[in-house]
Amino acid sequence: MTKTTISQVHKYVDQEVTIGAWIANKRSSGKIAFLQLRDGTGFIQGVVVKAEVPEEVFQGAKSVTQESSVYVTGKIQKDERSPFGFEMLVTGLEVIHQAVDYPITPKEHGTEFLMDNRHLWLRSRRQHAVMKIRNEIIRATYEFFNEQGFSKIDPPILTGSAPEGTSELFATKYFDEDAYLSQSGQLYMEAAAMALGKVFSFGPTFRAEKSKTRRHLIEFWMIEPEMAFYEFEDNLKVQEEYVAHIVQSVLKNCSIELKTLGRDTEKLEKVTAPFPRITYDEAIKFLQEKGFDDIQWGDDFGAPHETAIAESYDKPVFITHYPTSLKPFYMQPDPSREDVVLCADLIAPEGYGEIIGGSERIHDYELLKQRLDEHKLDMDAYKWYLELRQYGSVPHSGFGLGLERTVAWISGVEHVRETIPFPRLLNRLYP
Ligand code: 4AD
Ligand code: MG
Repeated sequence: MTKTTISQVHKYVDQEVTIGAWIANKRSSGKIAFLQLRDGTGFIQGVVVKAEVPEEVFQGAKSVTQESSVYVTGKIQKDERSPFGFEMLVTGLEVIHQAVDYPITPKEHGTEFLMDNRHLWLRSRRQHAVMKIRNEIIRATYEFFNEQGFSKIDPPILTGSAPEGTSELFATKYFDEDAYLSQSGQLYMEAAAMALGKVFSFGPTFRAEKSKTRRHLIEFWMIEPEMAFYEFEDNLKVQEEYVAHIVQSVLKNCSIELKTLGRDTEKLEKVTAPFPRITYDEAIKFLQEKGFDDIQWGDDFGAPHETAIAESYDKPVFITHYPTSLKPFYMQPDPSREDVVLCADLIAPEGYGEIIGGSERIHDYELLKQRLDEHKLDMDAYKWYLELRQYGSVPHSGFGLGLERTVAWISGVEHVRETIPFPRLLNRLYP
C-alpha cells in the first residue's frame, strides 16, 4: 500500500493509500464513524461505513480514542465541504497506540490549564495553524534576505555586553567570569557587517523583564539585519519591503491556516510598501490632541499610546526620531538636532504594538566613547566594539524584528504565548 501524508492526498484521488495519523476527534453512530485525522501536515476526515468494511475495522473505529495513533488505509475522494478539499473512505484501520484520557478535550479549557499542557496543546488545530504561520515567516525571511544579497551570521548567545540596557540581563557564570544571555546580537552583527557588508541573524534573545503583558516573553526570537553604508532612510526601506514580503508570503502560502484562525485577511492585503511615518514630535502632539493629557515630550510610549497612533493607519507605521534620552547608547544623533536620534520603531496595526526597533549607528569613535561613558558602561567589555570605529568606520544601520509579536499580528492571536512552541514567561518555565 502506498504510504503518504495528508498534504499529499491530492495526488491520490480515487486511489487507496495509507496514512500514519492521530485521531483529533471522532463521531460515530451505529452505521457510520467519522474520524478527524491529523498527521502534522494537515487534517482530513476519514469516513468508516459499517456495511462496507470488515466488522473489526468498524469496531476499531468505534472504540479508538482521541489522540490515539493509527495507520489508516482508504480511498481518497474529493470533498467540497472539507476546508482541505478531500476526505478518505476508510477500508482499514490499525491502532498503533491507544491513548487513555487525553486531557485536552473538545470542550473549553482555561489558559493556565492549556499552558501546563503546552506539550499536548501544540497538537490542536489553532496551535498547529499558528506554528505553520511562524514557519512561513521564517522561510520568507531567509528568502527575502538571501535574494537581497545578505549573508546569515550567527552572533553568540553567551556575551559580556548589554546592548539594550543593564537592568534586563540574565547573568550566569562563565567559569570565573561574569556572562549574560544575549539581549540582542546587534553589536556582533555590526562587526559582521564590516566584514560581509549586508548580514542578518536569526536567534533566541533573552530579557529578564518583569513584564506580564500580551507582548512580552522572557525568551524570544529576533531577526537582526545590519547593513554597511546604509543610512537612516535606506534602513527604513529595507524594513518596509521585508515586512510586506513576509505578510504577502503568509497570505499566499498559509490560506488554510489563516482561515482556521478566522483572520481578517483584507487587513493583511493592505500591507504593501511604503509604510506611513510620523516623527516622535508629531506623535506626542497627536496624542495630546487625542486627550492623553499626561504625556509630554521626553516620555516613552506605552501600549495604549502605540495603539492610538496605529489606529490612524491601515498599515504598520514608523515612529521616527525619538529623544536621545529614551534610546540605547549606540544610536546616531540627528545631525540637525542633537536631542533626537536617527531611529524608528515600527508599530503594527490592530494593537499589536512595536514589532521592530532600529536605527543608524554611531560611527564616530569619539562620540561613541562619550556615549559609553555617559551610560557608565564598562570600556573593557566594549573595546572591540569601539575598535570597529578605528579601522575604516562607515555609516551603517540595522534593526531587530521580534518574531513572536510579528506572528501574533499576522495570525491575529491575542497573546504572544501562543506564537512560540514553548513560551518562557514570568512565572513559567514548564513545560
Ligand atoms: O527594540 P529592541 O529592544 O531592539 C533591539 O534589541 C535592537 N538591538 C535591535 C537592532 O537594532 N538590531 O527589540 C527589537 C524587537 C522589538 O521591536 C520587539 O518586536 C521585540 O524585539 N521584543 C520583544 N518581543 C517579545 N518579548 C519581549 N520581551 C521583547 N522585547 C523586544
Ligand atoms: Mg524597542
